[in-house]
Amino acid sequence: MCGIVGYIGKRDAAPLLLEGLQRLEYRGYDSAGVAISGKSGGLKTVKAKGRVRDLDSRLPKRFAGTTGIAHTRWATHGAPNDVNAHPHLDADGQVAVVHNGIIDNASEVRAKLEADGVEFASETDSEVLAHLIGRSQADKLEEKVRDALRHIEGTYGIAVLHAAFPDRIVVARNGSPVVLGIGEKEMFVASDVAALVSHTRQVVTLGDGEMATIKADDYRTYTTREGSRTAASPETVEVEAASYDMGAHDTYMHKEISEQADAVDRVLRGRIDDRFSTVHLGGLNLDPREARKIRQVKILGCGTSYHAGQIGAGLIEELARIPADSEPASEFRYRNPVVDPDTLYIAVSQSGETYDVLAAVQELKRKGARVLGVVNVVGSAIARETDGGVYVHAGPEVCVVSTKCFTNTVVAFALLALHLGRIRDLSVADGKRIIAGLRKLPEQITEILAREDEIAKLAQQYTDARSMLFIGRVRGYPVAREASLKLKEVSYIHAEAYPASELKHGPLALIEPAMPTVAIVPDDDLLEKNRAALEEIKARSGRILAVAHQEQEKADHTIVVPKNEDELDPILMGIPLQLLAYHTALALGRDIDKPRNLAKSVTVE
Ligand code: F6R
Repeated sequence: MCGIVGYIGKRDAAPLLLEGLQRLEYRGYDSAGVAISGKSGGLKTVKAKGRVRDLDSRLPKRFAGTTGIAHTRWATHGAPNDVNAHPHLDADGQVAVVHNGIIDNASEVRAKLEADGVEFASETDSEVLAHLIGRSQADKLEEKVRDALRHIEGTYGIAVLHAAFPDRIVVARNGSPVVLGIGEKEMFVASDVAALVSHTRQVVTLGDGEMATIKADDYRTYTTREGSRTAASPETVEVEAASYDMGAHDTYMHKEISEQADAVDRVLRGRIDDRFSTVHLGGLNLDPREARKIRQVKILGCGTSYHAGQIGAGLIEELARIPADSEPASEFRYRNPVVDPDTLYIAVSQSGETYDVLAAVQELKRKGARVLGVVNVVGSAIARETDGGVYVHAGPEVCVVSTKCFTNTVVAFALLALHLGRIRDLSVADGKRIIAGLRKLPEQITEILAREDEIAKLAQQYTDARSMLFIGRVRGYPVAREASLKLKEVSYIHAEAYPASELKHGPLALIEPAMPTVAIVPDDDLLEKNRAALEEIKARSGRILAVAHQEQEKADHTIVVPKNEDELDPILMGIPLQLLAYHTALALGRDIDKPRNLAKSVTVE
């Protein structure tokens, strides 16, 4: 949440900063701002409520300067307006700061500064940083920043410009990501590589408690606390710049839904071992003897990743016969959980940055637990903090709403479950059966995506709904939960998911023609039970859209999806409902890639 970018080099900074902000806009789109070290000395700042395009239209024609920082905001402290937009300046206008994170003790620090006569321009927590840096008596900019950070509690990724030090940008990280991009006599800074890859693939990822000074032809990293030098060897980013482009699609959501066959192919590639009917997961760091000792699996994630974890838990129970469940990481970390040495903990995250997940991992590690990651972004904080794990290989996901990463995460869990199962009691025959099912997935996904026109037409019929119910049983229930989240976040239609088995215990009271139900009805041993639920809804004049392996007589519409193995069916059944959410939102004229009030990579609590 919130994106920061910086540039220092020979080129005009403003266009590069704006381009970087556009790439990071999924991290927040409440306001944007830029500060440039002008050629004639001093700092120039422009800020605008709204999108990067609003900032762009406000920039004066002459906004020259080869060093600058910029920010795109997701509001936490203070309304989304021009004044609360970053960069924030100190009282003399000498220091400009952009910040991603939350300063927990901001009110306390602000009160002290105000008592000293400092006047604040904004309501943000971040402005305290600019004043603290501006008031530091240290000689060097690096020392001023370190001085300021000593007063701060909370999370931050910051970039600082100072009019008296025009040859450098100082950055620091604690809990919110900062990467440096190394170019030819130019350097970039950003919250993530999306903003850099069109200029350089050589990056250095700062660790927590680390700072850096970047100059046009040089950079230096050191610890925030002591200022001691740290080793920072650049890595080459493997992702192609083009994979961040929208291509021929109108939205990233559509692009990412459409990419799922290839994405699933990628997560499977090189991992299947036909000889032993299992899979190789290179980075797992879990030897078979340890794997046999696991008595329980606890999966932690937020939002869509939590739902993927629920399907993952089901797969682990079914294939490896280890008791498993999934819980929102945000709840887990606050309930003083009992950490059991024989439990395997798994943190799930697309971004690898989600603060609640990271904090849960850190708490577990502190208590001595073994924690694996199922993560999409390579080298992200959660990937680095965990003891090993499985990369999801979905490729960059730009739309705030997660789609292809959900699917790939569930496939990654299927691989993990198969791996654990084959170390334990899963038979060779079952291993072969699951592998054959996994291999079928890309083709079956293509088959589902080919029905987009039909789903788009169906979506038109649900745009009038004020609320929708999503139901499923056992394997189908997390699919229903994820589909209801997709619909509500992108179309703003209220949606609620319930186990179909629970209908009679309350939600049936809601059924009427104005409250359509989406039902997940796989051809498995619960088919007749699911059909009974459809009967009950129909008997009360409810409208039903079924996602099933065959036409459902009681449903008004059925989206028929190809059948796979029972255990793998949930992977496919969510995909048409991603398209349903997309087309419903499209018909309602929603801002699909940037739903209101949301942002991707939730680096705040
Ligand atoms: C919903 C969505 C969110 C994320 C959640 C966790 O479409 O994208 O619910 O799934 O914020 O994010 P990650 O997976 O990055 O930890």
